[in-house]
Amino acid sequence: MLQFRPAAPGDWPAIWSIMEPVARAGETYCWDTSMDEEAGRLEWLPGAAGTDPTLAVFVAVDEGTGRVVGTAQLHANRGGNGSHVSNASFLVAADAGGRGVGRALAGHVLEEARSAGYTAMQFNAVVETNTRAVALWTSLGFTIVGTVPGAFVHPAEGPTGLHIMHRFLQPSR
Ligand SMILES: CC(C)(COP(=O)(O)OP(=O)(O)OC[C@H]1O[C@@H](n2cnc3c(N)ncnc32)[C@H](O)[C@@H]1OP(=O)(O)O)[C@@H](O)C(=O)NCCC(=O)NCCS
Repeated sequence: MLQFRPAAPGDWPAIWSIMEPVARAGETYCWDTSMDEEAGRLEWLPGAAGTDPTLAVFVAVDEGTGRVVGTAQLHANRGGNGSHVSNASFLVAADAGGRGVGRALAGHVLEEARSAGYTAMQFNAVVETNTRAVALWTSLGFTIVGTVPGAFVHPAEGPTGLHIMHRFLQPSR
């Protein structure tokens, strides 16, 4: 069973252990593949100077082991008159992948986004070759609004597209 809760500062080592291999692989996020731990912390956790004040970070904890097996960010996609649309990012530990953690964590974050009053969720840069993520988001009701051609250079596949994906959360007010 998984438990979901807001990330605490003490979760950082576990989050970094999930994030670092994803950053180094350079296949799924537009991050510097050589980012160091401090840069990773500034990228993922709230609290640093200049952090987006809407940012909330969650962790998925395996209740059996107490281990953090996934983490997600939720924040406003834009400021001002665009702030009713949320944006989220997800990371699941490689050795916990393919077992439903990502799906369950996304379900939790979609609920959190609804509760926070967001009316939609948008992903700005889903790498086209990231078929696992694209399949997951599509199955959760996201559609591909468009694809920016060649906007991402995959280390093995070369230039590939970045999908913008979107779904409504509740009727617009
Ligand atoms: C994308 C990611 C969050 C998915 O998490 P996960 O825990 O592995 O996903 P789940 O086990 O919940 O699987 C969800 C869906 O992914 C797809 N999927 C799972 N394993 C797959 C595989 N090996 N190949 C292709 N699709 C797969 C299936 O559609 C699955 O749906 P199902 O529940 O009907 O089987 C995770 O792989 C990850 O952190 N990847 C690296 C970072 C990343 O890509 N983040 C998202 C950026 S947009």
